Amino acid sequence: MKVCVIGTGYVGLVTGACLAHIGHHVICVDNNEAKVNLMKSGQSPIFEPGLSDVMQGVIQSGHLEFTTDLAAGVDHGQILFIAVGTPALPNGESDTRYVEAVARGIGQNLHSTSGYKVIVNKSTVPIGSGDWVRMIVLDGFAEKSKLAGSAVKTGGTATLERQAEPQFDVVSNPEFLREGSAVHDTFNPDRIVLGGNSAKAKGLMQDLYAPIIAREFAVDKSAATVPVVTTDLSSAEMIKYAANAFLATKISFINEVANICDRVGADVTQVAKGIGLDTRIGSKFLNAGLGWGGSCFPKDVSALVHTADDYGYDAQLMKAAISVNERQKMVTIEKLQQVLKILKGKTIGLLGLTFKPDTDDLRDAPSLVLIENLARLGAKVKAYDPIISQSGMRHGISDVIVETDPERLADGCDALVIVTEWKEFENLDYAKMATCMNIPVLIDGRNFIDQAMVEAAGFRYVGIGR
Ligand SMILES: NC(=O)c1ccc[n+]([C@@H]2O[C@H](COP(=O)([O-])OP(=O)(O)OC[C@H]3O[C@@H](n4cnc5c(N)ncnc54)[C@H](O)[C@@H]3O)[C@@H](O)[C@H]2O)c1
Repeated sequence: MKVCVIGTGYVGLVTGACLAHIGHHVICVDNNEAKVNLMKSGQSPIFEPGLSDVMQGVIQSGHLEFTTDLAAGVDHGQILFIAVGTPALPNGESDTRYVEAVARGIGQNLHSTSGYKVIVNKSTVPIGSGDWVRMIVLDGFAEKSKLAGSAVKTGGTATLERQAEPQFDVVSNPEFLREGSAVHDTFNPDRIVLGGNSAKAKGLMQDLYAPIIAREFAVDKSAATVPVVTTDLSSAEMIKYAANAFLATKISFINEVANICDRVGADVTQVAKGIGLDTRIGSKFLNAGLGWGGSCFPKDVSALVHTADDYGYDAQLMKAAISVNERQKMVTIEKLQQVLKILKGKTIGLLGLTFKPDTDDLRDAPSLVLIENLARLGAKVKAYDPIISQSGMRHGISDVIVETDPERLADGCDALVIVTEWKEFENLDYAKMATCMNIPVLIDGRNFIDQAMVEAAGFRYVGIGR
């Protein structure tokens, strides 16, 4: 099938490359020219395991192309994905201006002769956005037609004629991929959600995903087919927000339990194991730590709270999940203060900067809150991150010295904090690192490192809730 994906970030690029890999002809459109040029040369602008290989294969086979030309993309695709960012506004509401610009642009480039198209909201958008996108697309189409009509009219050669409306439907197809395993998740989804009012559009979407639904590209090809949940537009939009709100609340719950464990002398890792084995609870998202962040949870939970407010409902549980998380981001600072007392004049080394391992994404990373508060308290902050240290990427971070390796990081530090659970941190030369520190203290903000191993290496170990 012919597909156009507009917005080539973590979601759009992975979606475009994977759809091309399963045999579709995909044109990815982005308005960032430098990014488009980079992708044309086969390079991924983001760090995502396996993505470069998939991209290079499908670029070579001609299944994946990149352009800044929205008109060409709209013309090409029978399925048009909107996959631009929807960051949070300061009041927590979702900023839908990029979606609006794309929807208007699609409308402006549709013709009554374009043939039937499906416009897919892949971006996480507020409840009601399906109908809103339809309206904006039609507005864009009408504006363009009006302009074209008045140009003809000015020429005095024809009377203004109303063009027939373009034929399209809007489908909500929320994305559940996780950064760090986005390619794997795209080929091995737990479910595919398709929301909309048109059976024809949802049928085309099922055709598009057929090889993925049949698990042809999955790790376990013999597993049962991928469940497809078909709903109305609003329910599909709500599924995405509810999923993220649930996961964020689950983490806040175990973080709250960890804080109580800290006070009563229990070990939250044992508690999490004990409750997680209950199949009604499940063990995932029960790792206590320094709080959730990233490009989705904070903005999506805030947006859902905001939507609830708009409709006269006070979403108290979700507000509590957010406020527990805000407090949790300060727990490592409290632990540093308990061990080191005064932080002014101390040097703190952060192991990890990204919000989770295997990504280069720093959006709303807990490390940023940590850096800001340590700097405010007068500490010098250094950091080592496997990706950020190598890439030279410093966007959005200040008040931190980024070191090129863990030993340089440890040099002269009064404490280290594990901020991100990068696999390579399991096997650092902690004994060597301890010798070059002023005080070998390790605050494990992810309860990730083997306590006995780092203690044997000479560290004083402090976890979260244990
Ligand atoms: N990142 C994730 O893990 C994830 C997971 C699930 C859902 N989502 C949702 O998917 C959406 C996209 O997220 P992301 O992380 O991929 O965003 P991103 O910020 O990484 O990428 C957005 C891309 O859109 C491009 N863009 C912006 N305006 C444009 C325009 N007018 N025309 C063409 N391109 C334009 C930008 O240049 C950028 O490349 C968001 O709504 C997000 O909530 C993200």
